[in-house]
Amino acid sequence: MYLNEDCLTYLKRIEDDSIDLVLTDPPYFEIVKNDWDNQWESEEEYLEWCREWTAECVRVLKNGRCLYVWGTTKTDTFLKYKLNVLNAHNELHYQNWIIWSYDWGGRTKKTFPRKHEDLLMYSKGKDFLFNGDDVRIPYKMSKNIRAGAVNHPLGKIPTDVWSKNNHTTSKEYCGWHPTQKPISLLERVIKSNTNPGDVVLDIFSGSGSTMIACNAAGRQFMGCELDKKYYNRSLERMENYK
Ligand SMILES: C[S@@+](CC[C@H](N)C(=O)[O-])C[C@H]1O[C@@H](n2cnc3c(N)ncnc32)[C@H](O)[C@@H]1O
Repeated sequence: MYLNEDCLTYLKRIEDDSIDLVLTDPPYFEIVKNDWDNQWESEEEYLEWCREWTAECVRVLKNGRCLYVWGTTKTDTFLKYKLNVLNAHNELHYQNWIIWSYDWGGRTKKTFPRKHEDLLMYSKGKDFLFNGDDVRIPYKMSKNIRAGAVNHPLGKIPTDVWSKNNHTTSKEYCGWHPTQKPISLLERVIKSNTNPGDVVLDIFSGSGSTMIACNAAGRQFMGCELDKKYYNRSLERMENYK
């Protein structure tokens, strides 16, 4: 079920412990110029709103499954969200801080150009599903230089730094949403944290990247997007992507 709806309205209808993975990308608070990122009077008000939808996401997530949230450290708001909202939640256990690194687009000469975004991983409960073998990548060298060590035949599990350029010429790039995330990286999260047929939830769908990644990975998608134009275009994007 994918709807043009507010996230809290959408979440309230979902049953407790029914979702296999939450993978979402909320507004950041006054980082981009679009109205959707400037809806709050203050950072406190924004964090209070985050507390509400995060609690709902935890309620609907199954035990032993994961919640991933995208963000940026361009300001300290995301750090406050991590420390005061995610870490404060009894049922959540911090697992990873993944960096999406890229090297494209305009760059400042005043300091080192900021070319990464952040993805926090939490589990509900201490133990959680992780299908690392399903997302292995090739080793750089075919032989392990440590004597006696043998490379895994399927390759290695990626580190927590993921390089991927969002080239405007690639099929993944939609060109009409300011903060779209790479479909191939979303697929990595989905494959490693769910089984085929499982249900993935993204309550801030935007251009529909998570929905497209779910389709490619053979998982069910549930989600919403408040902006009608984005919602309609995300459905078109999904059709054109197949
Ligand atoms: C950071 S963007 C998500 C981008 C997405 N990950 C992608 O790849 O295209 C956040 C999205 O949340 C939507 N949004 C803002 N407030 C919302 C709300 N209350 N309920 C649902 N969606 C909302 C915005 O319209 C925006 O498209």
